[in-house]
Amino acid sequence: MSGPNKSYDPVQVSMLEAAALEAAVTEALTAFAAADSLESLKAARLAHQGDTSALSLANREIGALPPTAKAEAGKRVGLARARVARALAARQNQLEVERDARLLVEEAVDVTAPVARRRLGARHPLELISERVGDIFVAMGWEIAEGPEVESEWFNFDALNLGVDHPARQMQDTFFVDPPDAGLVLRTHTSPVQVRSLLERDLPLYIVCPGKVFRTDELDATHSAVFHQVEGLAVAEGLTMAHLRGTLDHFVEALFGQNLETRLRPSYFPFTEPSAELDFRCFICRGTDDHCRTCGGTGWIEWGGCGMVNRNVFQACGIDPDRYTGFAFGMGIERALMLRHGVKDMREMVEGDVRFSTQFGMEI
Ligand code: DAH
Repeated sequence: MSGPNKSYDPVQVSMLEAAALEAAVTEALTAFAAADSLESLKAARLAHQGDTSALSLANREIGALPPTAKAEAGKRVGLARARVARALAARQNQLEVERDARLLVEEAVDVTAPVARRRLGARHPLELISERVGDIFVAMGWEIAEGPEVESEWFNFDALNLGVDHPARQMQDTFFVDPPDAGLVLRTHTSPVQVRSLLERDLPLYIVCPGKVFRTDELDATHSAVFHQVEGLAVAEGLTMAHLRGTLDHFVEALFGQNLETRLRPSYFPFTEPSAELDFRCFICRGTDDHCRTCGGTGWIEWGGCGMVNRNVFQACGIDPDRYTGFAFGMGIERALMLRHGVKDMREMVEGDVRFSTQFGMEI
């Protein structure tokens, strides 16, 4: 094992010579000063302070010196390395400050600059009220049902006890879908969903169906070829008109306000027997204003049709009418919106102007 060489003269080891050290330091300081970016400073650091730099070499050579020479050489090299480290830190700091200042300018955001404004959309009030209607029934444990808008004549008419000679089947009311013998129509009401539900679901059933319907009407203040209805159907053993009445009472109050009396007027629909028209107390004047613009001074608002499911409908769906009874109802959604929000013209609901929709809230 070889020990330190006692006759070793540090001044004779080239890298430990004062002049060589001084030269290495000067070179390092010059390189640091010349570095004009953090990247080039990093390269200069590796060259002048890294493992293979002259100063690191000198540092390593100290270990080979005899103990007597170590202290002085160590001090000299240490001072040299400290000067280089200080210069590096100072330059590093300087370049970082410069970079930060440059980034602040380059990445500055002008918060006062005008931006292209995009108008927020809004959900259509017919959608909102349809959902509200659905929620009222879901809260009572009913289910939402759906059916196609292009419907077969059998579902739209025949199964609902509308015979081939029924006036609703005339061309002037119904959109027939080509080819003429396909037996397809745009559904004229949501009632075919009753038939679909009776065929597809188990009994007892409680379903509600808000949806789009079509009739060959010209667009004017009170008509549109496309509008919406909500259909309801409940079928179980022992259902009576009292259940129908109680359900409609709740529906009316949930949508139009508390303590609104309802009344059923005898009427006719092929798919219900007996059938009735539903009226409810005017929620504006409650029957006290002969000139009320909401109810026309009658004190009552007409809203839709209803009744007990006709035996023929049950029979068309293979259900025993002696065991099951049911009630059904159908109301206009546009009419509900017009009443609830004082919309005067059907066209406003059809045109799709977002300024109309935003009045009902900005839910998007
Ligand atoms: N489908 C009827 C219409 O379009 C509305 C209707 C009346 C639906 C009575 C029903 C009902 O379910 O029982 O005018």
